[in-house]
Amino acid sequence: MRPTVFVIFGVTGDLTERKLLSALYNLARAKKLPRDFYIAGFARRAWDGDVLRRRFEEAIKKYVPKCEAKILRMLLHKVFYVRGNFEEQGDYLKLKEFLDGLEKRTGSHMDKVFYLAVAPSYYPVIFEELGKCGLAQCCRGNQSKLLIEKPFGKDLRSAVRLNKILQRHFEESQIYRIDHYLAKEPVQNILAFRFANGIFEHLWNKKYIKEIRITVAEKIGIESRGGYYEQSGVLLDMVQNHILQLLALTCMEEPLSLAAESIRDKKAELLKYVRVSLDKKDVKKAQYLGYRKEEKVSPKSATETYAALKFSIGNRRWRGVPVFVQSGKALGEKLTEISVEFMMPRAQFLGDARHELSPNVLRLRIQPNEAILLDFQVKTPKFETELHLAEMRFNYSSHFGGAAPEAYERIIFDALAGNQLLFVRADSAIRQWQIISRLQKSWHKYPLGFYKPGKLGVELQ
Ligand code: BG6
Repeated sequence: MRPTVFVIFGVTGDLTERKLLSALYNLARAKKLPRDFYIAGFARRAWDGDVLRRRFEEAIKKYVPKCEAKILRMLLHKVFYVRGNFEEQGDYLKLKEFLDGLEKRTGSHMDKVFYLAVAPSYYPVIFEELGKCGLAQCCRGNQSKLLIEKPFGKDLRSAVRLNKILQRHFEESQIYRIDHYLAKEPVQNILAFRFANGIFEHLWNKKYIKEIRITVAEKIGIESRGGYYEQSGVLLDMVQNHILQLLALTCMEEPLSLAAESIRDKKAELLKYVRVSLDKKDVKKAQYLGYRKEEKVSPKSATETYAALKFSIGNRRWRGVPVFVQSGKALGEKLTEISVEFMMPRAQFLGDARHELSPNVLRLRIQPNEAILLDFQVKTPKFETELHLAEMRFNYSSHFGGAAPEAYERIIFDALAGNQLLFVRADSAIRQWQIISRLQKSWHKYPLGFYKPGKLGVELQ
């Protein structure tokens, strides 16, 4: 890999501490970072390199059990801090000077990866200023890349605007819009599973599939993120991004090749056919009891923490097959699963036993306990013909042992390697907003129910 400097905007924040540092450490341990790899933190606080290194050390020790002193030392040795205000043009020049100086000192030209771990309201100014001071430009064969966290905009208009600013300064090949669900191992497996297995590939259409369900349930509430969550709710926090990407991978056509652009083309194409139902009976939204007492939440908040929706896909493969999605917080257990229900068999000869028939359901369990499960019928070992629903199960951990790379490790590794497969391209990012914006406009008109925290099957009160 090429020499790289990884610049973290908002290095003093929560995301850096919780996700980025352990990911960087684990990549260093697995020898997956470039040999010449530097980290530069850029933020407002009056810290310096020593403070930043101390903070990094504390955070890594907190999040990585049994972290090795030698690797930690190696990583910290190349950490720097540049103090700056995201809105101050002069501070970007300071950053540029620092980066030029680093290249001179080390004698190597470097790729620059800018990681935006900041409040999204800063995105426009950061894009502009990076562009204006020349940091967006690739020169002497070196690349400048931008890693952007969600939310990418807060509605269709703002997302289009953001893209315009971005595209003034960066090429799409430099832009890495993160959707960390794409980097989860079982999500990466969806295409392999669908297209490498004839028994499923041939059945993957409206003739054999009755419906698809995507569930993203969380056990946790909103924790300390009330300020953000009040503005987003589950519709924008989970459905607009993660769930639509899961839907696209589950339903897209076969890509030409494994190349990032081939796959992203097919996802974008599929999303063009996706519609959300606005029918009252297909839209359910609810809030967990106690949400209004959370920190930074209005006591009269109408923000939904749970939503259940129905999507349709108007292409030849899927016309008429509903895709039901549901997602929520404080649901008693964590479960992300895509379940595919096949048509009922036409087993007339089973006569009386027929009413016992249940459909075959294939479940791609994304987390936790990553697995692929298939329900199928067997005859019970009795004199009478009685049917029983059994389960075939493939379990990632018992099959492969060991843990797969964590999502943020994968994200950083792929961005360093210049592989955009697991990132969201501009057309899909915008299309996802178009799909949701129809609902966003009338969202306040749907009644808000309430549910007790702690139960997966939401019963509205
Ligand atoms: C984030 C959302 O994108 O995904 C959070 O903003 C949510 O609200 C999180 O908790 C869930 O991610 P994971 O990887 O824990 O399923």
